[in-house]
Amino acid sequence: MYQPTNKQSTSKSFFKHSILVPVLALGLVSFNASANEFDPRLAIDLNEEHKAQLLSNMRGALAVTQSIVKALAEDDMQAVADYARPMGFKVRRQKPKDGLHDALPRSFKMQGKAMHQNFDKIADDAETLKDPKHTLQQLSEVMNNCQGCHATFRIESIDSVDSTDSEANESEKSFFQKLFMME
Ligand code: HEC
Repeated sequence: MYQPTNKQSTSKSFFKHSILVPVLALGLVSFNASANEFDPRLAIDLNEEHKAQLLSNMRGALAVTQSIVKALAEDDMQAVADYARPMGFKVRRQKPKDGLHDALPRSFKMQGKAMHQNFDKIADDAETLKDPKHTLQQLSEVMNNCQGCHATFRIESIDSVDSTDSEANESEKSFFQKLFMME
């Protein structure tokens, strides 16, 4: 005897969702004024000052990573800890939150936090375990953080002479858009 199967109803509701998702995504993409057809990463709108500050931090992160690799090659675990410590979340959280911090979307800061916490682990374990191979494994995790964030976000300059009001609106709008798109 023919029975309407569960399978049928599941595939129906799946079909419904599979249509809904691209439609929602399309709506968001066309809503995002700074979408770039050549670069699908999410744009973070920053003024020139904040952009320069962020990129300078990034070059610092690359320099620290290089120093840690060098210290590891020399089996100098104290130097590993000394380089990693200032990049750790424990040190970072003590600094007052600046304008750049306020301008960044939450999903970006969450990824940054994960990276800083991984630097804490490198510093802690370099001091206690003193195991270069273990540290190398942790460094690989940190570099996954670098890579993951770079694959997700790009920086888009906004004209810093714009009135601060419209600037605030811009970053608020993109903050919610991005939060939604991340989930
Ligand atoms: C939370 C996100 C995030 C994390 C984590 C992150 N980056 Fe970046 N980084 C960015 C973004 C966004 C840019 C700008 C990319 C763009 O606009 O194309 C960038 C740019 C850079 C640049 C280019 C700087 C310049 O002067 O143009 C370097 C170098 C860099 N990152 C190194 C690193 C390294 C090394 C790590 C890990 C130790 C790291 N980043 C982790 C987000 C991140």
